[in-house]
Amino acid sequence: MGPAPAEPGGGLLRGLPMSIVYLNGKFLPADEATVPVNDRGFLFGDGIYEVTPAYGGRLFRWPQHLARMERGLAAIGIEFDAGALKDVKQELLARNGLDGAEAAYVYVQVTRGVAPRTHHFPDPPAPPTVYGFANRYLRPSMAEWARGIGAITIPDQRWARADIKAISLLANVLAAQAAVAAGAGNTIFVRDGIALEGSHNNLFAVFGGVLATAPKSNYILHGVTRDFVIELAGEMGMPVEERAIPLPELYEADEVFFTGTTTEVKPVVEVDGRPVGDGTVGPVARRLFEGFVAAVGGR
Ligand code: PDD
Repeated sequence: MGPAPAEPGGGLLRGLPMSIVYLNGKFLPADEATVPVNDRGFLFGDGIYEVTPAYGGRLFRWPQHLARMERGLAAIGIEFDAGALKDVKQELLARNGLDGAEAAYVYVQVTRGVAPRTHHFPDPPAPPTVYGFANRYLRPSMAEWARGIGAITIPDQRWARADIKAISLLANVLAAQAAVAAGAGNTIFVRDGIALEGSHNNLFAVFGGVLATAPKSNYILHGVTRDFVIELAGEMGMPVEERAIPLPELYEADEVFFTGTTTEVKPVVEVDGRPVGDGTVGPVARRLFEGFVAAVGGR
């Protein structure tokens, strides 16, 4: 059996039919939540988002997610107290019956608000638009997980601030769609010959027992899961090098895997049609996934 063409388990589930969402201070049914057409999120993709996993109803590494959101908001000049979103997130989990779910995630986005369309910021500033929802995450069965996925590479056409978790994700959307069109499970962005990260996850490769992943820079999102997996690897005595991975080297890796919220640790068994290692999921990804699941609970 070859690699799974798409993310096993379907990745994120479609919106729950009766889901309760959050919009600007109110919890309401998703189909009653509407945003004016002059919202700058709608017109310009002018906003920041964050996706936080929740295991057994507990937000995972919220302080780290919050810190990244605060950095993003500051970087694009939106004034908003993101700290208040913790209660919103917990409430979204509770109202959607996810407070006991094995694995769920909460999405929030903050846009620069509603104002007549001008490229520059509205003056005076508009109140930010704040939207959030929660959903279940279906972790693949161990058998599905162990099939791994195939990945293709694509030139990185994103802007040079991929470290900002901006809602404008056109290049990521096109990359993810390129994977679908190719019957692959995900796409790897390559900039100047260097393999950086996935369409919505970070990238690791293993060479002779040593892990490698792109260093934190403006060209990748500083993944919370990435940091967690580096810590796990440290606890397991696996060396990690944060360094550039040229594409020809990636093709020679013993193992390749993605990390991310809802991605967790996802092994890649094929890159651009070439088998990774012997073409099956390797021991490093397996140990890290098992360690990950043990640490977050469940299973
Ligand atoms: N994506 N790189 C990119 C480009 C991402 O979009 C993400 C997250 C990551 C992993 O970050 P973290 O481990 O903090 O989730 C890396 C989210 C889940 C999304 O867009 O849905």
